[in-house]
Amino acid sequence: MRSDGRFRILVLTLTPNVAAGAFPKGNGNVDSLSSGPVAEVLKRLHQEAEAADARLAQTYASEATSHEQIITQFIDAETRDLEGLYHGLAGNFLNVSPEFGRFLYMCARGCKAQRIVEFGSSMGISAIYLAAALRDMGGGRLIGTEFEPGKVERARANAAAAGLADLVEFRVGDARETLRPGVGGDIDMVMLDGAFTLYLPILKLLEPHLKPGAIIIGENAFAEAGGYIDYVRDSENGYLSLPLSFNPGRGNELTVRTKGPRRLRVEISVEGASL
Ligand SMILES: C[S@@+](CC[C@H](N)C(=O)[O-])C[C@H]1O[C@@H](n2cnc3c(N)ncnc32)[C@H](O)[C@@H]1O
Repeated sequence: MRSDGRFRILVLTLTPNVAAGAFPKGNGNVDSLSSGPVAEVLKRLHQEAEAADARLAQTYASEATSHEQIITQFIDAETRDLEGLYHGLAGNFLNVSPEFGRFLYMCARGCKAQRIVEFGSSMGISAIYLAAALRDMGGGRLIGTEFEPGKVERARANAAAAGLADLVEFRVGDARETLRPGVGGDIDMVMLDGAFTLYLPILKLLEPHLKPGAIIIGENAFAEAGGYIDYVRDSENGYLSLPLSFNPGRGNELTVRTKGPRRLRVEISVEGASL
């Protein structure tokens, strides 16, 4: 308390409304990407991913194909046998870069996300960035989806090692089926990183639950794959959308939902009174 002689001025320090336990121990700085278990697990996982995916990266580099040819080959392979393609990649992480992960974390924090849905979780690297943002804001729910049961097992273990298991639910199987029953409420943010050709059907499945202002991030959202880009760049559909300037050519797209969720208005009349 300070006094200037006539008035006594009470100086208060206000603490943000964050749930108990949300602060990383010791520093009061709510950023679990910079230090602590989340940062350590991510560092280890990025190293493991680099080793596991090195041969795949080399194959693409040595085939001397252009980036466009690789995308076309992937889209063709998905069209022929989507499940078979990703089953063949069951040992690969195919993960976001640390820079992209940081961007995911920042978007989740920026839109104060409480419910996030991810299409394509693989071993859980991007899920950890997203769930870390939820943790640092005091809680929330991340619903991840993944075809491969072996990957989901590892993603769950990785989320647990980062201390985030209580915030994450991984649904095993084709996301077109596993997301169909809903996600338990309205959605603040969506990360699309599964089969390139399914971004539009997955978005349409989630669309009735998107909050106005919801952020949708597409990694590998290519114009050649299934109409997603045309759809989100048409404002008539209730979105504003732009390509992201980092990692050009990777099909990184940032989209904002401009409409609200569709609501069914039910009027019940009891003995002539309208409720
Ligand atoms: C690019 S990886 C995801 C990487 C992850 N987001 C990360 O950064 O750590 C794509 C994953 O989507 C999965 N996938 C593809 N199509 C799917 C579908 N229809 N339903 C569920 N998972 C799918 C694949 O098995 C693969 O593991």
